[in-house]
Amino acid sequence: MSAVQVRQLWKAYGDDVVLENVNLEVRSGDFVTIVGASGCGKTTFLRMLLGEEAPSRGELLMDGRTMPGEPGPDRGVVFQKYSVFPHLTALRNVMLGEELARSPLLGRLFGGARRRARDKAMEMLEAVGLEQAAGKYPAELSGGMQQRLAIAQALMKNPKILLLDEPFGALDPGIRKDMHGLILDLWRRRGLTVFMITHDLKEGFYLGTRLLVFDKVRDDPQAPGAYGATITYDIPLGETDDGLYREIRESVGLPEEPDVAFIAEHREIEEKSS
Ligand SMILES: Nc1ncnc2c1ncn2[C@@H]1O[C@H](COP(=O)(O)OP(=O)(O)OP(=O)(O)O)[C@@H](O)[C@H]1O
Ligand SMILES: [Mg+2]
Repeated sequence: MSAVQVRQLWKAYGDDVVLENVNLEVRSGDFVTIVGASGCGKTTFLRMLLGEEAPSRGELLMDGRTMPGEPGPDRGVVFQKYSVFPHLTALRNVMLGEELARSPLLGRLFGGARRRARDKAMEMLEAVGLEQAAGKYPAELSGGMQQRLAIAQALMKNPKILLLDEPFGALDPGIRKDMHGLILDLWRRRGLTVFMITHDLKEGFYLGTRLLVFDKVRDDPQAPGAYGATITYDIPLGETDDGLYREIRESVGLPEEPDVAFIAEHREIEEKSS
């Protein structure tokens, strides 16, 4: 069954059309990467999948049912900017969602409930390789470790869908590679459906099973808000050549060199090691 169906989706803020006529079917277990020019509506699309924003028109279905109009435990999200609380340790940051859900006034659990939340949070920290840092505060963690913490937080509710908005954009290349390994591993082991926005086309090609490009198909320079972006490419990955890579890169104005050989090579390494 399709995990997510998007039918003739439109989103406008006032007179500004951001997205127009977006159609999409995503199967459970897909790893969808999303690229597109800055401001074309990628984050807006993700926030609609999260339930933080409502479509202006059209339908968003999850497992065949209308997407709930608010964020729920079935969807976890990681944004580019760290979403962790500076005054809580790594462990309490991961526990917090559970504590707030079950004890909205105090934000704290006691006794057996607290122990269970704690054990679960430790398990999540282990899943992202942060078990040694459970007692540390965010300021004592590196950028990569803070993003891992945000991922642990997002996984705490066992979401089926993981939404990632440029989660590794601020990280050094070496750390990014570690994070790629981590996210692929979590995706496989937990059977997640992933939507990940990236500014790095290479990352998009290398990580996903499917790449979406958001772009405007029509534009009026006199009225920039008149038309929105839609999905202009929807590519099953593994079927890419240099020409297509270049075409996409140019269509979204991304300044990277074609490096399809690099991607193919990395995919082979990944496949062998999995
Ligand atoms: N809450 C809002 N109210 C009004 N306009 C908004 C709101 N959120 C987003 N927009 C507008 O919608 C458009 C798309 O924004 P969005 O953040 O989705 O772009 P993006 O593709 O994620 O860009 P980037 O790559 O820079 O992150 C922008 O013009 C933005 O100003
Ligand atoms: Mg964005």
